[in-house]
Amino acid sequence: MSEPATEAATVTLTINGQEVDAAPGELVIAAAERHGTYIPRFCYHPRMRSVGMCRMCVVDIDTGRGASLQPACMIEVADGMVVDTTTETTKKAQDGVLELLLINHPLDCPVCDKGGECPLQDQTMAYGPGESRFVEQKVHFEKPIPVNDLVLLDRERCILCDRCTRFASEVAGDPLISFMDRAVGTQINTFPGQPFDSYFSGNTVQICPVGALTATPYRFRARPWDLSELESTCQTCSVGCRMGVQSSQNQVLRYLGVDVDAPSWGWLCDKGRFGFEAIDSDERLVEPVVRHEPTGDLVERRWSEALRAAASAISAADDPSRIAVLGGARLTNEDAYAWTKLAKGILGTDNVDCQLDDGLPAGAVLGAPRATIDDACRPGSTVLWLGPDPKEELPVLYLRLRHAIQEDGVRLVEVTPTATGLTELAAASVRCVPGTTAEVVEAILDGGSGEAAGDPDEVAAAARVLAETDAELTIAVGRPSLAEPPRAVVDALAVARGHRPRARLLSLLRRGNVHGALDMGMAPGVLPGRTSLDGGRERFAGEWPTVPASTGLDARGVLGAAAAGEVDVLVLLGADPIDDFPDRDLAERALAGAGRVVAVDLFLNESARLADVVLPAAGFAECDGTTTNLEGRVTTVSQAVTPTGTARSDWMIAAELARLLGADLGLESPEQIRAEIERLAPPHHGLGAALDAAGSEGAVVPVDGSAGHAEDLDVVLQEPPVEGGARDAYSLRLVCDRTLYDGGTALRAARSLAGLAGPAVLRMSPTDLDRLGVDDGTEVRLSSARRSRGVPVVRDPGLPRGAAALAVNQPGLAANELIDLGSPVTEVRVETQ
Ligand code: SF4
Ligand code: FES
Repeated sequence: MSEPATEAATVTLTINGQEVDAAPGELVIAAAERHGTYIPRFCYHPRMRSVGMCRMCVVDIDTGRGASLQPACMIEVADGMVVDTTTETTKKAQDGVLELLLINHPLDCPVCDKGGECPLQDQTMAYGPGESRFVEQKVHFEKPIPVNDLVLLDRERCILCDRCTRFASEVAGDPLISFMDRAVGTQINTFPGQPFDSYFSGNTVQICPVGALTATPYRFRARPWDLSELESTCQTCSVGCRMGVQSSQNQVLRYLGVDVDAPSWGWLCDKGRFGFEAIDSDERLVEPVVRHEPTGDLVERRWSEALRAAASAISAADDPSRIAVLGGARLTNEDAYAWTKLAKGILGTDNVDCQLDDGLPAGAVLGAPRATIDDACRPGSTVLWLGPDPKEELPVLYLRLRHAIQEDGVRLVEVTPTATGLTELAAASVRCVPGTTAEVVEAILDGGSGEAAGDPDEVAAAARVLAETDAELTIAVGRPSLAEPPRAVVDALAVARGHRPRARLLSLLRRGNVHGALDMGMAPGVLPGRTSLDGGRERFAGEWPTVPASTGLDARGVLGAAAAGEVDVLVLLGADPIDDFPDRDLAERALAGAGRVVAVDLFLNESARLADVVLPAAGFAECDGTTTNLEGRVTTVSQAVTPTGTARSDWMIAAELARLLGADLGLESPEQIRAEIERLAPPHHGLGAALDAAGSEGAVVPVDGSAGHAEDLDVVLQEPPVEGGARDAYSLRLVCDRTLYDGGTALRAARSLAGLAGPAVLRMSPTDLDRLGVDDGTEVRLSSARRSRGVPVVRDPGLPRGAAALAVNQPGLAANELIDLGSPVTEVRVETQ
């Protein structure tokens, strides 16, 4: 691949008369570029294998047997090599290649989206012949044709460079776009009846060196010279891919991946790339709304009135323990700090949770030494995967791991309830029925012998792989199923860390800035800086008016207390418990039982609709700040447009509420909040300087290395222990996982993505389905202790016998109606109707 090899030895060669050093194995095109000589190219892409398709990079290369024209993207540097990119023969070859590529190219630059940023256009101007000798009729194709819902293809613009096809098969693992036909009819296309059904299709638009592939949401919307660009970090999930936010006339029109080594290599998933349409959605909340007493309707009010209503609801609370704040993973780090300071430092409540019982306890994530994605992808290392399907939940992490397994010999051992996007590449995969994960991990790390849960062959294979691994083990941990409590994963993690104390942990919590919110103390028992209440009490007591005396309630505890009438005011910070908490019934009862509900959100989601006051918040691309990804990497997010309507940043709302409550947060800008975080949170010491120095890649906390993982953080589990229990012979154990496209509020608000969520289906193993005697697509009755619902069933060979899987938040069926939160596993019956 294009990255220089890491051996100490260097190779010395001459490029355009200048002696330069290069790493052994480095390609001439990359070495030349590193030393300031740009060799034109179309098919070469530094993140993919070279194929030498277009010949645009041919230059004179002399390896001792005389100079000859050779493709610089295919030739590795060698000692004594002489490269000349300025010779007459090189120039003539470049003229010839461009003349050839333009024979059939339509030259419709004035109406092509790529015009102004097109490598073919630019390199023709810089290296081309000036005029063509070809006057014949050019090839014509029907144009454009959609290859999927997001990408259009104008085939006659294609120069057959093989970038999109290589990306699809080599990087994304979705070989659904390919060369078809022969000779002058050669074209890129999808296979008949098979669209380019890939979560990563937008990357092909970005890397196509002409306008053959264009994005439906951007087509004819802007010209590159109309656009301003600011670098930012995608907040759709916690991978934190670096992106350029491009806007014109106060409207965001496009996101582009920015190629940085950490974390994302320039790739984006389509949900992240095209999510910009939600920013100016008609569904955005533009003014505060307050429930109107006589009618019960939510009616628009001025900010001053709505803030007063929210503040009086908070001040009416009898006791700090009757105030609760849920949510925060949508916020920037600065917003999260401001809200923690308001809740814990001024109101004195510790009932704060940025997760909705859909992640892991703060201590499990913050209290362990963390791995970066590069650690997990280091050549020769091993990853023990106790998490969800990365392709569905953390798509660009999936791309990084896919590459690491295929190209760098990384071994993956999965212990999951369902097959994942990486199962085919895994060194070992163990399917475990819900309720057995810790037992299976124990069996694997004990060497795979003896009676245990899990398929004995799968367990033995996993044990063999892990037996060969010691130091370079990363344990990747998240929530593979919402139908099992966090304890199932926490217990498995404890077993794994007990056996492999030197292993590092890669968190797979999925929400955009959940790691930043946790670092900023938005969880019960935690203060900013990855420290416990007791660990940080002395430091914060001198700075904040108060610090909570004891650990408060997590989301589950808060909703239980609210349902019992023990919460006077519930603040929802970008949180929608009705849709996202695993127990919908409890969430509904909690919102009905809470004295007052104040929501701070971008949209009137299911829960915000039931609030007494809803304050419109500024969202992504509407405010500056920083964010923290799953590695603990802090990067900047940038304001590209003014907030929608009268929306305000979350930290401003916190500061204003504090003022109305007679306190002063002392926070006046994101920069000043960042300085306070740096001062009070030891792992963040030196962060500002580190961010300035690191640029796009940001800095991984703990920045100064003096504050390691927080030893004083306990894993606080506010739930009963998982007990295996005998399974009813007729029941199955429910797995509630996620798909990338679901019924989430932000996805529904993005026009081009809104229709991509598939209908709800129940997946079952072929054995269980055959036992039931029904075919794929048959509507069955799915019943848990909570509810009974009709749903079509499909065969899924990736599921173990005894389990049935349902994705949460799919249109048509709310899986969280069925989950039995009071039980360690949700048993379901599946019956024909
Ligand atoms: Fe290359 Fe674009 Fe043609 Fe794909 S569509 S082969 S990326 S020119
Ligand atoms: Fe080298 Fe295409 S860039 S052959």
